[in-house]
Amino acid sequence: MFGDDDRLRTHKLNIYLEQKLRESGKTWVITGAAGFIGSHLTQTLLACGQTVIGVDNFATGRPQNLDDVQRSVTAGQWREFRFIEGDIEDIDVCSQAIGECDFVLHQAALGSVPRSLNDPITTNSVNVGGTLNVLRGYRAFAGRYFKGKGNAGVRADP
Ligand SMILES: NC(=O)c1ccc[n+]([C@@H]2O[C@H](COP(=O)([O-])OP(=O)(O)OC[C@H]3O[C@@H](n4cnc5c(N)ncnc54)[C@H](O)[C@@H]3O)[C@@H](O)[C@H]2O)c1
Repeated sequence: MFGDDDRLRTHKLNIYLEQKLRESGKTWVITGAAGFIGSHLTQTLLACGQTVIGVDNFATGRPQNLDDVQRSVTAGQWREFRFIEGDIEDIDVCSQAIGECDFVLHQAALGSVPRSLNDPITTNSVNVGGTLNVLRGYRAFAGRYFKGKGNAGVRADP
């Protein structure tokens, strides 16, 4: 059960982490930046004074999500956002985005178990092949940290 003490601890931890972020500006690549999770990560990091390079091909993501991010941060913070409209299945897109970044938050994926059952080839190509490309780009440029979100399509039972 999540009680008041837990909420207070989480709140204090969030404040501490935001302070640590603000102390040093880093460059983050967020794949799937126009998606639900990616756009919220983009917003949070820009608001904490970070530089963000977003990658998305708008397969399921929406330009409006990025518009919402722009509206929620200052003009100066928004200037620290660069967007690459591209496909993570393209190794050049991954290499271009990841070159010289500090961190990679990999959120680009095709979700939905029904989609993965209807079209397993495409889901596999994006979620497995695309992730491999992001890892190849990461390895080439030796980013220091990689975080990927578990994907429903990948977890789906056949
Ligand atoms: N939202 C949740 O509650 C939740 C929970 C558990 C796991 N996840 C997983 O987290 C990840 C992100 O979830 P989300 O809710 O933000 O999904 P989302 O569909 O909103 O975002 C995924 C983004 O990836 C982009 N994308 C898809 N294929 C791409 C490609 N080939 N190249 C570049 N960009 C591509 C889409 O356009 C979209 O913007 C997914 O793997 C999802 O399964 C989400």
